[in-house]
Amino acid sequence: MSGLYSFVWPLLRCLDPEAAHGLAIFALKRGLVPSAKPIADPRLSQTLWGLEFANPVGLAAGFDKNAEVVQAMLSQGFGFVEAGTVTPKPQTGNPKPRLFRLTGDGAVINRLGFNGAGVDVFRENLGGVKTRPGPIGVNLGKNADSVDAAADYTAGVRALAGFADYLVINVSSPNTPGLRALQSRDQLSELLDAVRAELRAEAPSDPPPLLLKVAPDLTDDDKRDIAAVALEQNLDGLIATNTTIDRPAGLSDANRDEKGGLSGRPMFDPSTRVLADFYRLTEGRLPLIGVGGIASGADAFAKIRAGASLVQLYTAMVFEGPGLVRRINRELADRLAGDGFAHITEAVGADHR
Ligand SMILES: Cc1cc2nc3c(=O)[nH]c(=O)nc-3n(C[C@H](O)[C@H](O)[C@H](O)COP(=O)(O)O)c2cc1C
Repeated sequence: MSGLYSFVWPLLRCLDPEAAHGLAIFALKRGLVPSAKPIADPRLSQTLWGLEFANPVGLAAGFDKNAEVVQAMLSQGFGFVEAGTVTPKPQTGNPKPRLFRLTGDGAVINRLGFNGAGVDVFRENLGGVKTRPGPIGVNLGKNADSVDAAADYTAGVRALAGFADYLVINVSSPNTPGLRALQSRDQLSELLDAVRAELRAEAPSDPPPLLLKVAPDLTDDDKRDIAAVALEQNLDGLIATNTTIDRPAGLSDANRDEKGGLSGRPMFDPSTRVLADFYRLTEGRLPLIGVGGIASGADAFAKIRAGASLVQLYTAMVFEGPGLVRRINRELADRLAGDGFAHITEAVGADHR
C-alpha cells in the first residue's frame, strides 16, 4: 500500500461507516487507489474447481454488492473476490443507520438487508470487467418482499451463471426475515434442486461450481442436515460462515447491542469451530471456504488447519485497509514453512489428522 493510501484509509474511519464505504468504492472505481504488487508464492497457489487461485485470501461478500470494483480489489492482492449479495430486483435495504463499527472489539455490526442495484446492473458491471487476474464469485440472495425464494435464486442463476467463476447460494444473512430458515433440511433440498435444474438449463456444458454459505448460529442437528444435503446434492463447496446474531461475552463497544450480524475478531473462534464441524461432517470431501474474524496470517492458517482450502475476510479490512492482504499472505507462507508444510494443500484439515 502506498504511503498516501495508508494515511488516507484511517481517515475514512472518522466518517460515518456507510459514507466511508461509499467513498472507498468511489475511489476504487475511479482508479484512485494504487494497486499492490501481486503475491507470487508457489506454496500459496492452487487449482480448485478448475480455477487458478494465486493465493488463498479472498474478499468476502458484502463489500462489493454491485460488482463495481472486482477488478480493483483483485489488484489489491486478493486471490479471489466474491461480489454480491445480489438480489433479482434493486432494493434499498433497511433504514439507516444500519452499519456500526465496534472499534475496540475489532468488529462490525451490520443490518444492511441486501441493499443493492439488482441483477441487471450487476451483470452490466461484471460484463465490463476486462481482465480477471483471479476468480470472481457471485453471491446470490432474495428480495425482502419476495414470497418465492426459489424463483429469486433461479433468477439470479439465469442472469449471472455465464458471468460467475463460482456461484454462492446465500441463505445465511441475518437481516432478511425468513432467509436463514432456508437452511432447514427440506427447504434447502428443494431450493438446491431448483437451482441445479436452472443451472443445467442455463449452462449445460460448463456450469460454474455451486457453493452454499452457512450461518455460524446453527445447532448440531442443523449442521448435520446441511452437511448431508450438501453431499447428496453434490454441492461443490461450503462457505463458513456468515455474520453471527450472537453477542460473544467480552464485547466492550457501546454499539454491541445494535441489532444485526456481528463480524470481525470476536467471531473468529465460533466461526472456526463451525468450519471444523463442517469439515468433519463432510469428511473432508468438499472444499470449504473459511471466513469470520481473519486479521492475520495466523488466523488464516488456523482456518486452513481447521479444514478451509480458501479463506475470505471483510471486517479486518475496514480497520486496516486492503494492505493487510499482502501481510496475511506473507505471514501465512511463514507459518506453512514453520509447521513443515511444503504447500498449502498439505495443511488443509491438518487439525483433524
Ligand atoms: C458490512 C457487511 C456486509 C456484508 N454483506 C454480506 C452480503 O451481502 N452477503 C454475504 O454473504 N455476506 C455478507 N457479509 C458477511 C461477510 O461476507 C463475512 O461472512 C463476515 O463478515 C465474516 O467475515 P469477517 O469477520 O472477515 O468480516 C457482510 C459483512 C459485513 C461486515
